[in-house]
Amino acid sequence: MTDRELELLRERALTALTTARRRTTLLTTCVDTPDLTAQHSPLMSPLVWDLAHIGNQEELWLLRAVAGREAMRPEIDGLYDAFEHPRAARPSLPLLPPVEARNYAAEVRGRALDVLERTPFAGDRLTDAGFAFGMIAQHEQQHDETMLITHQLRKGPVALTAPDPAPAPPFTGPAEVLVPAGPFTMGTSTEPWALDNERPGHERLLPAFYLDTTPVTNGAYQAFIEDGGYTDERWWTPEGWDHIRRNSVSAPLFWRREAGQWLRRRFGVTEPVPADEPVVHVCWYEADAYARWAGRRLPTEAEWEKAARHDPATGRSRRYPWGDADPAPEHANLGQRHLRPAPAGSYPEGESPYGVRQLIGDVWEWTASDFAPYPGFTAFPYREYSEVFFGPEYKVLRGGSFAVDPVACRGTFRNWDYPIRRQIFSGFRTARSAGDGAV
Ligand code: AVJ
Ligand code: FE
Repeated sequence: MTDRELELLRERALTALTTARRRTTLLTTCVDTPDLTAQHSPLMSPLVWDLAHIGNQEELWLLRAVAGREAMRPEIDGLYDAFEHPRAARPSLPLLPPVEARNYAAEVRGRALDVLERTPFAGDRLTDAGFAFGMIAQHEQQHDETMLITHQLRKGPVALTAPDPAPAPPFTGPAEVLVPAGPFTMGTSTEPWALDNERPGHERLLPAFYLDTTPVTNGAYQAFIEDGGYTDERWWTPEGWDHIRRNSVSAPLFWRREAGQWLRRRFGVTEPVPADEPVVHVCWYEADAYARWAGRRLPTEAEWEKAARHDPATGRSRRYPWGDADPAPEHANLGQRHLRPAPAGSYPEGESPYGVRQLIGDVWEWTASDFAPYPGFTAFPYREYSEVFFGPEYKVLRGGSFAVDPVACRGTFRNWDYPIRRQIFSGFRTARSAGDGAV
């Protein structure tokens, strides 16, 4: 990398850390103090845990690992180690109270900016191209999405405001596009802040397939419900069928039916379900069942990435569907700029060469794939980011939601969760194999 490129990455690191902290501050000041220490759902930490955990990870990686500093408060490390205490147990820990948590995170940040200024971006794997700083900015933004999920699970309204996405005319393009058979490069060995599970770049050969042009909408999903989708065992895997029956799952999370109309609760406010918006808050089992009902299937993770990154004109994989440029507002609904997905068919400027829309932003998209390492994977810098989660119990989600910051979203970025989870901002699109005729 040239000195100029390294200087740009340094500026980018400072901006990313600052942007993340602004969001964290907003997400932890938009509710009253008692709401910071309360647990709003057993699936989530109290917000004050996220806040101090953000500071603690920054201290661990930027102050201790990068700069070799002593622990500021060694006694709190265990409290904020995500593996020592499950989320449900966190409210009963002697957590730092809100003011202390805020001061701790701020003190760490002050020192981390100092470290950023003095650290060369070359010569050491952890800091090459500013990796550790990028990783910590992404980590904070991932928790900012987690905290927004906590706000969504909380019953009351939240003092967060954002304009709605622009209304879009009904999408009139083709419902699906053909991605011809052939090889493409999956993952990356060159994106400086890509996390370990996105590496290394490697070739994949895929048969031809068709992919939905847009995510599945609420309107389409309602047709599945109205057709008795939730009471017809044929559409469900045995595990999915068992899960929805045991837990009385009969519509996306936060939906309810009243006087013949579907309503949803969104950040504490009840509103009609908009038909043209991508469906959100469905679990993998629901996405998989919908796809089977529609005579289709979920795309594999590799299919999703080929549709999002492969440029048939050059044979190269690009950073984003629209090319290599960083995400801008005209490309995708990212960064909590809006607190909901945009209508299906929005963002024509974010379209991929194959003509697929909204791959990045709006809703995380469930894929058919289990979370598994790429050939040649090595854990870096810690096994607990990805490696301990590899296996068939987690499914991969791609593309990021409206709640994800651009720094934590790329064509190669991989998210994962249990197939029963739906408090996350999860939707999907469907695919089908093209068979022998199509190349
Ligand atoms: C990648 C979203 C599954 O929230 O569990 C945050 C991200 N890792 N802190 C998660 C993460 C450590 C992770 N996900
Ligand atoms: Fe974390």
